[in-house]
Amino acid sequence: ATPIIFDTDPGVDDAQAIAIALAHPDIELLGMTTTYGNVEIATATHNALLLAELAGQDIPVAQGAAMPLVKTKHPAPAHIHGDNGLGNFELPDVRGQAIEQNAAQFIVDQVNARPGEITLVAVGPLGNLAAALQLDPSIVGKVKQVVIMGGSVKEGGNVTPVAEANIFNDPHAASRTLTAGWPLTMVGLDATHRCVLGPADMEKIAAGQGRLGEVLAGSYHFYRKFYQSALGIDGCCPHDSCALAWLMRPDLFTTARGHLSVATDGLAEGQTLFAPEGRPFLGERWSRTPLVEVCLNADGQGVVDWIVDTL
Ligand code: BDR
Ligand code: CA
Repeated sequence: ATPIIFDTDPGVDDAQAIAIALAHPDIELLGMTTTYGNVEIATATHNALLLAELAGQDIPVAQGAAMPLVKTKHPAPAHIHGDNGLGNFELPDVRGQAIEQNAAQFIVDQVNARPGEITLVAVGPLGNLAAALQLDPSIVGKVKQVVIMGGSVKEGGNVTPVAEANIFNDPHAASRTLTAGWPLTMVGLDATHRCVLGPADMEKIAAGQGRLGEVLAGSYHFYRKFYQSALGIDGCCPHDSCALAWLMRPDLFTTARGHLSVATDGLAEGQTLFAPEGRPFLGERWSRTPLVEVCLNADGQGVVDWIVDTL
């Protein structure tokens, strides 16, 4: 199985992805690290602990970033994920608590303990990965790979016309993380907007997930209303699950290799800028940015079928 650390801000679609990480036989979930984003940090940590408990698994949860590195934090948008991050679905009590180590330290220690083996999957704002890089820059050469859900190349944004939420919420952290020079794949809106998880899909998922299924279904129906009004679709885009889908089933995605950069201020704040490898007029500054892999398209039905089959 592929050992991963899952960095998350749960979040309705995060919860779906966490369920996958807990369930998939080929994924070894070493731990979850939490960040503010869809919710405040304490709520993110609470939800990560709860989801693991509902699945009956004892997974370490390390709490991380409470705010962006540089920009001023804006309040989490309660109409998307609800005040509690899980669609205001009434949640059972949590028994466990976060480990003492913070998220960045947990990432650094785990990666150093198993050099070349661990994949970091990050599906929230990227403060924890940026902090881990600062704590120990040598992890760049020691992770197996980094997969992030965030950004957009041709699709445009979902918080501004050009910016995707995870990048927009901490563009400075995103810039450091995406240009660190480690083997990285960006799974952004170009792929995730191709995937629609419909109510019939959720019914099947919930049926296979016991108590966790109730939370997944309850939160889904809240999240779905947002998609109905924002994109006019009946269902939700399972953004964060797409990062895991890429890891397990890269054949479902179209990718390109190229140079990536993140705009950190102005109207383009949070926009991911991409130039394919070998493009003419690259110029010296762009040539110096590290090469990454970017998903430009996905077999949406294939990804949704994979999610349903896994759960
Ligand atoms: C991303 O933003 C968050 O709201 C979701 O959980 C996902 O990680 C989509 O833009
Ligand atoms: Ca997320």
